Amino acid sequence: VVSAYDQLTYPGFAYPSTHPWRVEVLARLFGVAAAPAATCRVLELGCGDGGNALSIAQTLPGAEVVGIDAAPGAIARGTVLAQAAELENVTLRVGTFEALDAELGSFDYVIAHGVYSWIPPQARAALLACVRERMAPAGVAFVSYNAYPGSYLRDMARDMLRYHLRDVSGPAARLAGAHALMETIVAIDEPSPYARVLREHLERMLGVHDALLFHDDLAEISTPFYFHEFVEHATEHGLRFLAEADLFESQMRGVPDSAGQLMASLPDDAVVREQYLDFFKNRMFRQTLLCHGEMPLRRALDEAAVMSFAVSSLARADGLAQADGEAFPDDEETFSTPEGFAMTTSEPHVRAAMYALADAAPGTVAFAALLDIAAVAAGPGAPREVVAERLREVLLQAYLARVVGLHGSAPPVSGRPGALARASALARAQCAASAPAVSSLLHTNVALDGQLEQALLPLLDGTRDRGALAAGTGASEAAIDAALTRFASAGLLHG
Ligand SMILES: C[S@@+](CC[C@H](N)C(=O)[O-])C[C@H]1O[C@@H](n2cnc3c(N)ncnc32)[C@H](O)[C@@H]1O
Repeated sequence: VVSAYDQLTYPGFAYPSTHPWRVEVLARLFGVAAAPAATCRVLELGCGDGGNALSIAQTLPGAEVVGIDAAPGAIARGTVLAQAAELENVTLRVGTFEALDAELGSFDYVIAHGVYSWIPPQARAALLACVRERMAPAGVAFVSYNAYPGSYLRDMARDMLRYHLRDVSGPAARLAGAHALMETIVAIDEPSPYARVLREHLERMLGVHDALLFHDDLAEISTPFYFHEFVEHATEHGLRFLAEADLFESQMRGVPDSAGQLMASLPDDAVVREQYLDFFKNRMFRQTLLCHGEMPLRRALDEAAVMSFAVSSLARADGLAQADGEAFPDDEETFSTPEGFAMTTSEPHVRAAMYALADAAPGTVAFAALLDIAAVAAGPGAPREVVAERLREVLLQAYLARVVGLHGSAPPVSGRPGALARASALARAQCAASAPAVSSLLHTNVALDGQLEQALLPLLDGTRDRGALAAGTGASEAAIDAALTRFASAGLLHG
């Protein structure tokens, strides 16, 4: 299982939902006093070549990140990149869950992304035992895995590919054979709905990076689980279901009343509820947060916790532009994100807060600063406590609707390029190493667009002005400005 990861380089992606600044928020909303992300200790189990661990380290300079993987080649590649990016707060080590070095100590956040479903049963048990042993008392673990019922579709595709590739070995030949079979099936216009569902799934598989296809779908082991099975296994290891890493998925949005009635007839239990949501949505992948079994949880979200977070939003007002300095008209206004998530409000203080977030995007605004802005817009007649209560209520709803993001600590990012722009050192090192995507300071993956961006990014070490950048790339200053603006909006530039 492990040697395959040294055969084909994994792309080294950042996985946004694993980041402690997001996990901290979820833990606090459910009443767990999780460690502040800014100064936490993070352990990533099965970190591969460290793409995720390195990106977390560069975004949390005050945190300590340790990545463990059994594949020496992957660890060596990640270590070279960490050195090139001069990241001193991350260590990648060759090791196994079965025999983890006791001297590593305990961790506030433990991450196992894309591991649990891809290892044999004994290793799965060792992984959960390791989580229990290494996690601090108020620690939180992130474990992702393929889920049933949706993954029956994956199983269907895997079974066909396994048969088709039964005598084929080596990554290049297996990938070529897989593409040939999938492209053939996708091109057949078989009208039955069942064939169409399979075609759409194969089309999605054809769109993913070759290394992910090879390691995830063509892997020797890829075992999905029903959510309740995963939780039972976690419980056996002294762990408890805290929440799903994306609360949007844990809500009943978009399901008809009949689903709500069925849900109401079930036992009042978060695990049962989540399991039925998987049935309703035919879910195929889960990112589950676990805490220690002894941890008391509050299932109603703690709205007051919002006041300690940094807030971000990519939402923009549809239509109306803000009247600078003037009172807000009483109209309703809708704020929509680029992905199409939206909220509508006519409250001047909420609108003022949304404008402030748009102005700071992709960076964050601390709740307290947002409250100052909202209080001014609400006018002298509105008591500050009332505005604060309304603001946290609205922000929590907007977070659940994917209109705003909440962070335990602010990403070290600037929405506007300064005179001497400085890009993330990790992104510069990844660019120099021709990585397929680079990691932003928001812990997202950014694909570079064309030769100018490839040439420009490594030069952004904070010492060059526009003239020097133009000379260094052979591009006009206008073209440099446009590229820097895109870099800033993608979260690649420091403040
Ligand atoms: C599917 S890859 C996921 C890599 C990375 N977390 C990601 O999502 O991009 C699974 C990783 O787990 C590692 N692994 C498998 N069994 C292990 C074990 N018993 N101890 C440590 N690492 C293991 C493999 O070497 C591999 O890098």
